[in-house]
Amino acid sequence: MAAETLTITDNRTGKQYEIPIKNGAIKATDLFQIKVSEDDGIVSYDPGFMNTASCQSRITYIDGDKGILRYRGYPIEQIAEKGTYLETAYLILYGELPTQSQLADWTHHVTIHSIVHENIRKLIDRFHYDAHPMGMLISAVGALSTFYPGAKKIFDAQSRRDQTYRLVGKLPTLAAFAYRHSLGLPYSYPDNDLTYTGNFLNMLFKMTEQKYKPNPILERALDVLFILHADHEQNCSTNAMRGVGSSQVDPYSSVAAAAAALYGPLHGGANEAVLRMLMEIGSKDKVPEFIQKVKGGSGRLMGFGHRVYKNYDPRAKIIKHVADQVFEVTGRNPLLEIALELERIALSDDYFIKRKLYPNVDFYSGLIYQSMGLPMDMFPVLFAIPRTSGWIAQWEEMLNDPEQKLARPKQVYLGADVRDFVPMDKRK
Ligand code: CMC
Repeated sequence: MAAETLTITDNRTGKQYEIPIKNGAIKATDLFQIKVSEDDGIVSYDPGFMNTASCQSRITYIDGDKGILRYRGYPIEQIAEKGTYLETAYLILYGELPTQSQLADWTHHVTIHSIVHENIRKLIDRFHYDAHPMGMLISAVGALSTFYPGAKKIFDAQSRRDQTYRLVGKLPTLAAFAYRHSLGLPYSYPDNDLTYTGNFLNMLFKMTEQKYKPNPILERALDVLFILHADHEQNCSTNAMRGVGSSQVDPYSSVAAAAAALYGPLHGGANEAVLRMLMEIGSKDKVPEFIQKVKGGSGRLMGFGHRVYKNYDPRAKIIKHVADQVFEVTGRNPLLEIALELERIALSDDYFIKRKLYPNVDFYSGLIYQSMGLPMDMFPVLFAIPRTSGWIAQWEEMLNDPEQKLARPKQVYLGADVRDFVPMDKRK
């Protein structure tokens, strides 16, 4: 059998090194022994972690070339067809699908933790009337750490479980409160008789009726969207969760950091960018002109391309199906026509084919949310709710991994060499 090692020759010194390969990876620290003088060991330079694994994980598997996504081994297509979001969150967090009694217990605990302290409501109340809901969400999640100081006991399994119930339970409440605040509407409190997504719709849309009855198609559509967004291995926000969590801070602070990472347009903000792009294009006949502009280097086709998927994002396929069901209830989103035309032209255009650019999860999700009556500002918030279970699962995995350490990357320093401080009157 061939040796599971890598032999490297350093042409500067003529020396050879043999480095072990484990699970298809070499340890970057093994490169440090390759040196010319005592303190100049080789480092690997990898902005954006293009080919650097920051952890070993057993949660989510993606094969970007084949368009495969699995949670704990289960294909996303099967989970989205047969599962519920809370079942999925349990699977992601605890590694196995729950039994009936485990699911009942999990659902009960998440549900009874949906209410928030009145001071959190007051905190949200104090934001400016047009504050972005994602800014409110990030602040409110961070503020939760001050309500639960016991959350600092991150190596106590029971404490972690309690914070998990709270985070998964309260995120929809914080999200809905942020939404109602931006509309100047009174808050709608959680209704524990409803499902996770049914209750979320209740907190978003309940007006004067005694009891809110969610539309079952929209409730299920939202549940499927939550399943699709629950985890996605080491993406930007999960990396933030693990990176910040590696300082051993409490999980509320880490989730606030992860949510902040999700706020950016290249990550959770992409579906908003898709809608803005569709509105800017304006009509189907303008699509070819827009594609030409993108190919000419002015802007990107938002909702297309992915760091990992070099094939159709499997989530995008499921979402397209969900969109049809939602539009039957809400009426067809007029922007859909432009989106379909963009997809049709891009998928047959050499520029996109050569670069393996396919629709990603965000290409259609914004259209669905908009048709459900949700404003674009809410889109990253709607992403943060289900991703919370993924963030916590990844955080716990990191805490239980003896190989994990405080995240502290190296740099390749290219700045000035040592020089003397120049007094103000001598500076040019
Ligand atoms: N439209 C036009 N060209 C593109 C696009 C796009 N959407 N995405 C990548 N390219 C081109 C890019 O210009 C480059 O071309 P060239 O080789 O000629 O310089 C090539 O494809 C490779 O691009 P890259 O930027 O090196 O690829 P990346 O892996 O760093 O980027 C990405 C991934 C998602 C940031 C990028 O595809 C993008 O900006 N897409 C639009 C934003 C978007 O939809 N983001 C949501 C991602 S999915 C949500 C999630 O999972 O969090």
